[in-house]
Amino acid sequence: MAKNKSGNGAERSNKKSMGFATKAIHVGQEPDPSTGAVTVPIFATSTYVQEELGKHKGYEYARVSNPTRTRLEQNLAALEGGSSAHVFASGMAATVAVTQCFLKQGDHLICGHNVYGGVPRLFNQVIAKYGVEFSYVDTSDLDAVKKAMRWNTRLVWIETPTNPLMVLSDIKEIAAIAHSKNAELVVDNTFMSPYFQQPLALGADMVMHSTTKFLNGHSDGLGGVIVATKPMHAERLAFMQKAAGAILSPFECWLVLRGVKSLAVRMEKHDENGRAVADFLRKHKKVKKVMYPGFTDHPQYALAKRQMSGFGSMITFETGSLRNAKKMLAKVRVCSLGESLGGVETLISHPATMTHAALGEQGRKEIGLTDGMVRISVGIEDTEDILADLDQALVAI
Ligand SMILES: Cc1ncc(COP(=O)(O)O)c(C=O)c1O
Repeated sequence: MAKNKSGNGAERSNKKSMGFATKAIHVGQEPDPSTGAVTVPIFATSTYVQEELGKHKGYEYARVSNPTRTRLEQNLAALEGGSSAHVFASGMAATVAVTQCFLKQGDHLICGHNVYGGVPRLFNQVIAKYGVEFSYVDTSDLDAVKKAMRWNTRLVWIETPTNPLMVLSDIKEIAAIAHSKNAELVVDNTFMSPYFQQPLALGADMVMHSTTKFLNGHSDGLGGVIVATKPMHAERLAFMQKAAGAILSPFECWLVLRGVKSLAVRMEKHDENGRAVADFLRKHKKVKKVMYPGFTDHPQYALAKRQMSGFGSMITFETGSLRNAKKMLAKVRVCSLGESLGGVETLISHPATMTHAALGEQGRKEIGLTDGMVRISVGIEDTEDILADLDQALVAI
C-alpha cells in the first residue's frame, strides 16, 4: 500500500464504476494484505526498518507517510473525485497548509465574507504578517467576486453554504472567474460532505474539509483534509506535510476511515431530519426566521438544487435576542449545546458567542449575524425526539 508504489486511490482502475457508498467502504479500506484484517490497521510506528540503504517498502518516517494515513488519503481523494488527498491535524492546519503551499509575499486571496470565524482569524492575525493580502467579499454576488480579482490574486476561498447564514455561492461560476485570471478556487465542503456536493466536478481546484465534522461523524477526533486535482498540488502538499509536520495521527486517520464507512447512510438521515426540523422551526411561533437552503423560497433554492444533491442538516434560526437564545439553549436536553457540527448527535450552538466570536461585533453586524441566531446541526436521532426537545426549549422563550 505504499503511496509511491500503488499510487493514489483515486487512480484505482475500478473506482469510477463504484457507487458513493461502495467507494466509502472499499477504496483505501481493502483488507490488510499481510493478515486479512477487514479493517485498516492502525500503524502506530514512528519509523520503518530498511533492508539496506535506500531499500525500503515505500515508508521511511511517519511524518512523511504512514500506511493508515495513506489509506485515508486514498479514500477521501476518491470520495471527492480528486487526484490526491492530504490530511492534517485539524481543519485549520489544513487551511494553513494551503496558504503555505500556494501563497507567497505579495500574493492576494479573496475569501468569502461569511466563512467559519477561525479562517479570517488565521488569515488576518497570522498569515497577513507574511505579506499576503486578503479581501473579504460576498461571494454569493458574482460581480463582487469579479471586481475583487486583482493581478496578484492567487486563490479564491469559499464556503458554501456559509456558516451560519446558509447563503450559497455558485461554485461553477466562481471557478470560471478565478480561472480567467489564473487563480485557483478552494471550496470548504465541510457542511455538505462529498455525499451532497462535489466541488471538483463543478470546476473547483481544491476541496477542504474539517474532517472533525461529517466525515468523521462521531465527534471523537479533529482532522482536516485538502483534496487536490493537480500533480503540482500533490507535490507541494505532501512536501508541507513532511516539512511542517502538522499531520493527522494514525489513530485519528483510523477514526475517519471508520466514520466514512457510514457517511452515505448518515447523510441521508441527517437530510431527512434536517428537513423535518426546518419545517418545524418555520411553523413555530417563537421562531422569527429560519435559514435553510431546502426551502423552496430560499433566495438561492434553484442554485441549491443545481449544485447540491441534498440540503444537509445545518439550519440557523432567529430567536429575536441574545436573551431568548440563552434561555432556549439552557433548556435543550436531546440537543447538545456545543461548538461543533456534523456528529451523529444533534449539536446546537450560538454563533455570535461561539464560532463567530472572533469576528467582533462590527464584523458580525456587517454580514448580518445577530445575537439572537442559533445554529443547529441536526443529528440522526429519532426525529420526534429532536422536535419535542426543540419545542420544550422554545417554550422557555
Ligand atoms: C466550515 C468549517 N471549516 C473549517 C473549520 C475548522 O476545522 P477544525 O475545527 O477541524 O480545525 C470548521 C470548524 O468548526 C468549520 O466549521
